[in-house]
Order: sequence, then C-alpha cells, then structure tokens
Amino acid sequence: MLWRWDYFILAMLLLAELTDLGETAVARNQRKNRRLRNASGNKLAARRKQAGNSRKVSTKKVNQNKKTATPAKIESRIVGGTSTSVSTAPYIVQLRRGSNLCGGSLLTDRWVITAAHCVKGHSASDFTVRAGTSTLDGSDGITRSVDSIHVAPKFTTNKMNMDAALLKLNETLTGTNIGTISMATSRPKAGANVRIAGWGITRESGTTASQTLEAAQVRVVRQKKCRLNYRGRATITKFMICARAAGKDACSGDSGGPVTRNNVLVGIVSFGYGCARPGYPGVYTDVSAIRQWANKVMANN
Ligand SMILES: *[C@@H]1O[C@H](CO)[C@@H](O)[C@H](O)[C@H]1NC(C)=O
Ligand SMILES: *[C@@H]1O[C@H](CO)[C@@H](O)[C@H](O)[C@H]1NC(C)=O
Repeated sequence: MLWRWDYFILAMLLLAELTDLGETAVARNQRKNRRLRNASGNKLAARRKQAGNSRKVSTKKVNQNKKTATPAKIESRIVGGTSTSVSTAPYIVQLRRGSNLCGGSLLTDRWVITAAHCVKGHSASDFTVRAGTSTLDGSDGITRSVDSIHVAPKFTTNKMNMDAALLKLNETLTGTNIGTISMATSRPKAGANVRIAGWGITRESGTTASQTLEAAQVRVVRQKKCRLNYRGRATITKFMICARAAGKDACSGDSGGPVTRNNVLVGIVSFGYGCARPGYPGVYTDVSAIRQWANKVMANN
C-alpha cells in the first residue's frame, strides 16, 4: 500500500539524483535498502512495510480479475496532472525537512496548514517553508523557518484520522505570487470538482525530478462508497474526504498540499492505496471538520 506519507521516498530518489549520478544501480539499491531498514525502527515505517505487502497481494487479485491492472508501483507526483504556475495557486508552499518534501497552504501570512504525518515526531527547527515558486528547487521563492508545530489532537499515524497540522512561521511570508487561502466552512458535496496540486518526481524510477508544479482536477466520491472502497484497508472517518478521476490522483510527495474548490481550501492531501488506481480514490483531510481546531490554535498562539 502506498500511503501519501511515503513522501520520504521522494527524498531518497532526489538525493540519489543529486549525489550519485555515477553510482551503479546495485550500489544505489543497497544504499536505499539500508535507509529503509534504518527507518523501520519507527512506527511509520513499520506501517509502510506492512502496507507494501498488502499492495502485492492486491495487485495479484486485481490481475486475476483481469482488470486493467498496472503492477504496484510508486507514482510520486500528481498523477495525470498538467504543469502549472504558482500564480494559479499562490497559497501553496513547499515544506522541507532536509531532503524530504511535503506541501502546505498559507492560511495567513504567518500560518501554514499541512498534513500531520508530514511533521509529527519532528521539531519545528527541522523544517523550512518556501513560497512563491513554481519550481522544485524553489530558488526563486521566499523561505521561512518554523517557530512551532501544532498537530491536530486526534491524529495518529496508525489511523491517519484528523491528518492536519499548523506551522507558525518565524516571520510573515508575503511577496510576488504569494497569497493566502481561506478554509471551507462545509464539506464539498459528492460529485463536486476539486483541484489538487503538488511537486514530485516525474518517473517512478526516480532519475529525473520534476521541476514544475503540477495540478489536476478530481471529483469528490460519496463517503459511503469510499468506505466500501477502503473496507479492510483503512477506516474512512468524518474527518476525511475521498476524491478521484480516471488516471488522476495525488501521490507520494504531495502530502500536506491543498485541495481547493473555487479558491477555498476544502482538503489536505493525506493518503491513498496506490495512486490513481481504479477503485481506490485519494483520501484527503476534510478542512471544514478541522477548521474550528485550526482557528483556535491560530488565535491562541
Ligand atoms: C543506517 O545504519 C547504518 C548502520 O547502522 C549507518 O552506517 C548509516 O549511517 C545509517 N544511515 C542512515 C541514513 O541513518
Ligand atoms: C526567518 O527565517 C528565514 C529562513 O530561515 C531567515 O532568513 C530569516 O532571517 C528569519 N527571520 C527572522 C526574523 O528570524
């Protein structure tokens, strides 16, 4: 199973690209495996491993059903999206921790909302936030550090419920192509079109990093249907929204990024089973359900 919080895969691949272009594939794989093993000391990675197993099983099943199944693989960008400029989403930010990447949205010039799974277990000083850039390297953007992290009270990496966190920036973040977005007051209805955006690598083999922001339109799925879709794999709660479109989805590296409708923030990229697979919508945090909590945190900190 490929959860959106596999975002660190992106980091590994980016790192591989930057640091060992001359390295043999064997050496690279060995290094990768070592990293994964190291990481498996924590809960998050343990879940990841499990998830990987169930992905294999399910692929087999799908194949047996003679559906048009692609083998389980890592799709690490907005799948089926098109390149876009940050001017179409001035509220989007890159959230970096070393070479790890997540997305986020500016709610005010001082506060970023992202996925809890992007930040839980790390300290504020580990992160930087960059805004006003369309490119992955972000050299044309403006950078801020993070003063404090506030994780939603019901979040656990196990259930991925209430997958939201707020970051207070060290100073205000404004400038060209930088703006804020307001939180939705009600959940989008089933059938509504919403927009997802994020950065990521362009190929699962990970030798080329995408330099541009990608966006795609997906459609909200009925909650009841999504619950059935994920039965036995994940519990779809009232803090979640599901959305899909044929061949389009969010994927690793997009975690924490915005889901919008008419320039209002309705969701946060959270998780999914594979990416853009038939029968498995992307799962997003319902912003209208965490709004009260978010407003309280921003007012009190
Ligand atoms: C992983 O563990 C090995 C051996 O314990 C160590 O040499 C290596 O630096 C670790 N790598 C990371 C990324 O922590
Ligand atoms: C805020 O963080 C940025 C990026 O680390 C840094 O350049 C800037 O000087 C910081 N501002 C303050 C007021 O500390």
